[in-house]
Amino acid sequence: MKILLVDGTVLGRKTGAILEQVQKYIAQFDSSLELEILTFADYQHEIVDGRPFEQYNEGLQEMVKKIESADGYIFATPIFQGSIPGVLKNAFDFLHPKALRYKPVSIVANGGTYQHHLVVENQLKPILDYFRCLVTPNYVYTHSSHFDADNNITDQNVQERLQELARVFVKYCEMSKILPKETIDQH
Ligand SMILES: Cc1cc2nc3c(=O)[nH]c(=O)nc-3n(C[C@H](O)[C@H](O)[C@H](O)COP(=O)(O)O)c2cc1C
Repeated sequence: MKILLVDGTVLGRKTGAILEQVQKYIAQFDSSLELEILTFADYQHEIVDGRPFEQYNEGLQEMVKKIESADGYIFATPIFQGSIPGVLKNAFDFLHPKALRYKPVSIVANGGTYQHHLVVENQLKPILDYFRCLVTPNYVYTHSSHFDADNNITDQNVQERLQELARVFVKYCEMSKILPKETIDQH
């Protein structure tokens, strides 16, 4: 199975740092999974405006195809203005509504306000529910205080929760394998 760890922001480094850690933990639980970090900052994003897909820049087309063809995801988001970054919502808007169906998903998020973990509950999860993803009950919300100046995760409890997230995610990958998926005309 191909698992994409999606760093859903073009601004900031902490979400990428969390994904690097999650990648290590997932590999420990299941070395057969093919893991790749997809960094939004590596792409030139364009607003979904209804033009034919082929008219977006090639890199962006490749990014969308990569997301649609993966078998599972870890989505990482910072909190911006009490929500997810526009660039992440824009990426979701490119996807075929069935592209993520019955695929395993875990969420990691980072913010500067403790209470904003609710953005995951109230805003990101409903989008993933719309796509009918298999969203794990575990997600991990980190706060800036959980990192050192070089964006290493220094909080032991966060490490343990990331490890537990990886353990459960791997089980959801197994579950996803036995759920038949409809084939769709992907981009
Ligand atoms: C435009 C912008 C808006 C932000 N809004 C919020 C917010 O509403 N709630 C919050 O908890 N953090 C907010 N933050 C803080 C970011 O979530 C936080 O800076 C980021 O996760 C820190 O990680 P970084 O070092 O990778 O940038 C905001 C940051 C920016 C740049």
